[in-house]
Amino acid sequence: MSKIALVTGGMGGIGTAICKTLSNSGYQVITTYLGNEEKAKNWLYQTSNEGFSFKAFKCDVADFDSCGEAVTQIKTEIGNISILVNNAGITRDATLRKMTKESWSEVLRTNLDSLFNMTKHVLDEMLEQSWGRIINISSINGQKGQFGQSNYSAAKAGVHGFTMAVAQETAKKGVTVNTVAPGYIATNMVMAVPEDVRNKIISGIPVGRLGRAEEIAALVDFLASEHASFITGSEIAINGGQHMM
Ligand code: CAA
Ligand code: NAP
Repeated sequence: MSKIALVTGGMGGIGTAICKTLSNSGYQVITTYLGNEEKAKNWLYQTSNEGFSFKAFKCDVADFDSCGEAVTQIKTEIGNISILVNNAGITRDATLRKMTKESWSEVLRTNLDSLFNMTKHVLDEMLEQSWGRIINISSINGQKGQFGQSNYSAAKAGVHGFTMAVAQETAKKGVTVNTVAPGYIATNMVMAVPEDVRNKIISGIPVGRLGRAEEIAALVDFLASEHASFITGSEIAINGGQHMM
């Protein structure tokens, strides 16, 4: 039986590419959606027309109980999750002077608390079956900081702290935990940045373009594979040379 991969926020730009790539690699791919049933139905319909058979469960990654309910439902209806891709995320950009407490908390809960909320519910089974992959999607802006993103940069920097700690706790049991830190990728999240600001950002990318969601998906697919068994606690940048560490 093929391994089960759960991709949170799998209906977004990067998430869709991850779902398709993992499915092409033979995993049974499940995703989550926040609550828009209509949008979820359309995505499932569209991807099934392309030959994919994804399953989707309603889940707010910012809410611990909601994650627990979704994972329980997945375990009951489908089986144990072997690969977890913590991909769901949001931005609420503003300079710190203008940032509201609500924007701060929303971003921290969705981008960082979500890792605890999801991983807690899948980790026991991964450890019991002595195999698992946890892949956390961070950002270049968690590595270098970004004007207007104190909330997002803090959350994404926290993602890798989580990765490194859990990687140490799980390494002996065949479970790897890694961070993928994409640069600017052509999805709605980046298209929401004002055009003049966006063009300035693109001009600072040595490769000379935005990244493609499929390029992130290919890295996730590799980290999920047997070839990546010796990679754990790593943060892999994929940013067109925009930030070199
Ligand atoms: N560095 C230095 N100064 C900057 C700056 C920068 N990067 N960007 C703007 N400024 C300056 C402006 O020149 C302006 O200066 P003056 O007041 O002297 O004219 C001032 O800051 C504007 O400040 P405001 O508070 O008025 O800014 P604003 O309300 O107009 O907009 C902002 C601020 C919302 C942060 C806007 O600049 C913005 O959207 N920036 C893009 C942030 C970004 O990169 N987001 C990434 C989203 S995608 C993503 O997050 C995915 C991922 O992981 C890569
Ligand atoms: P996107 O197209 O906006 O997709 C984001 C996804 O997250 C959506 O599917 C959304 O679900 C989901 N989501 C948001 N809040 C959620 C919540 N509370 N519970 C469950 N799902 C939630 O963004 P993207 O560009 O694909 O980004 C995916 C990940 O990559 C994010 O973590 C982002 O921070 C990171 N990243 C992106 C870039 C980039 O340049 N695009 C760069 C670096 C890192 P709904 O559609 O159901 O709301």
